[in-house]
Amino acid sequence: MSETAILEVNGKKLEFPVVRGTEGEIAIDIKTLRGASGGVITIDPGYKNTGSCESAITFLNGEEGVLRYRGYSIEELAEKADFLEVAYLLIFGELPTKEQLVKFDADIKAEAHVDEDIKKILDGFPKTAHPMGVLSSLTNALIAFNPTSVDVDSEEEMYNAIVKIMGKFPVLTAWAHRKQKGLPLDYGDSSLGYVDNFLKMMFAKPNEEYKSNKVISEAIDKLLILHADHEQNCSTSTVRIVGSSHAGLFASISAGICALWGPLHGGANQAVIEMLEAIEADGGDTKKYMAKAKDKSDPFRLMGFGHRVYKNFDPRAKIIKVAAEEILADLNLTDPTLEIAKGLAAEALSDPYFVDRKLYPNVDFYSGIIYRALGIPTGMFTPMFALGRLPGWIAQWREMRLRKEPIGRPRQIYTGENARPFKEVSKR
Ligand code: ACO
Repeated sequence: MSETAILEVNGKKLEFPVVRGTEGEIAIDIKTLRGASGGVITIDPGYKNTGSCESAITFLNGEEGVLRYRGYSIEELAEKADFLEVAYLLIFGELPTKEQLVKFDADIKAEAHVDEDIKKILDGFPKTAHPMGVLSSLTNALIAFNPTSVDVDSEEEMYNAIVKIMGKFPVLTAWAHRKQKGLPLDYGDSSLGYVDNFLKMMFAKPNEEYKSNKVISEAIDKLLILHADHEQNCSTSTVRIVGSSHAGLFASISAGICALWGPLHGGANQAVIEMLEAIEADGGDTKKYMAKAKDKSDPFRLMGFGHRVYKNFDPRAKIIKVAAEEILADLNLTDPTLEIAKGLAAEALSDPYFVDRKLYPNVDFYSGIIYRALGIPTGMFTPMFALGRLPGWIAQWREMRLRKEPIGRPRQIYTGENARPFKEVSKR
């Protein structure tokens, strides 16, 4: 028997179907509410209680700290899979066979170059430009060089568009960095794997042979996996809503990059390390900053803490914390910001303000420490997040188009002036 929910509006009882997910999540399907109630809508700023879609890609249980891509736990994927396998899994729904993986890798490599004229666009940016702005602009510029739209009903066209963006995006990400550093642009080396090639494009010097470092490339691979998807977060919702107007894949991804840039979302990884450095420079007094975070008259927030969905440990933060310690040990480095981060986390986890609000370290809290240890400059932390999130955005865009979802167009409750007559300027 199908479940229903009853809503009483203006004395009239309305019945709505209830939707249940495969993990038992429940939603009331209010698609018919406005028509059946004579114009009543729901309002939910920030969409805290609103499901925007049904999706079979990522499962997240924020209360229990569970994250799975296509049914596989994030812990297992981070330990056993590599980034390209995870990308394939997210986008196409199943782990690739050996042949599928070899083909996916080769097809991406065949697209790992951009039109030389992209360099002219890059030239126009000042060196001081934030790499996220550069990356978003260059991703959008790809449309001009690949203007034909994708027939989403054609598996082949869909696949080609996917390998194209998977191939070109690391080039653009690395170039955003090289521009800032004044390094000549590098197309990498197609004999290297996805992550090693990206690192070569980032760091290769014109006068030295580039040598891959296994510790670094494995750590980056793991970080990319941990960032690869996170269901309907701000940037993914942006990608889906832009794509819902049938704007193309590159335009939708470019919009997602802008959404990710904000410090309340992906930009938090940069904000965290800047915060930790500022605390260190100020004498390392974590208690002072804890007090600021709790003071409602102070705009300071403990960056890297709290999450819209996790009301428990972010499982990604747990993995990253261990990885940060291992990498610093492997590279024989010490980092005072890791000690400050651990101090803040320990205090927050026993402080009633954070405990009562269920504020735990999120994915961004420790990731910057690893990026820094691996030699990634601060301004590139959020572009690294974007590189990791790319397969998730693609998967969500593809799912939205294949399911033929309607254009995203919320309603509003108008709270402005009522109708009033126009006043001539001389009478105002
Ligand atoms: N420091 C201090 N107080 C906080 C923090 C924080 N980091 N996060 C939330 N709070 C407090 C709020 O002030 C609020 O308190 P109140 O109930 O007394 O008013 C309460 O906790 C709930 O916070 P909201 O902002 O309402 O929660 P929301 O779900 O809207 O925001 C968010 C989640 C944006 C992540 C928030 O926790 C935050 O700003 N964190 C810091 C930025 C950050 O780390 N962002 C990365 C998120 S992960 C990602 O996007 C990849």
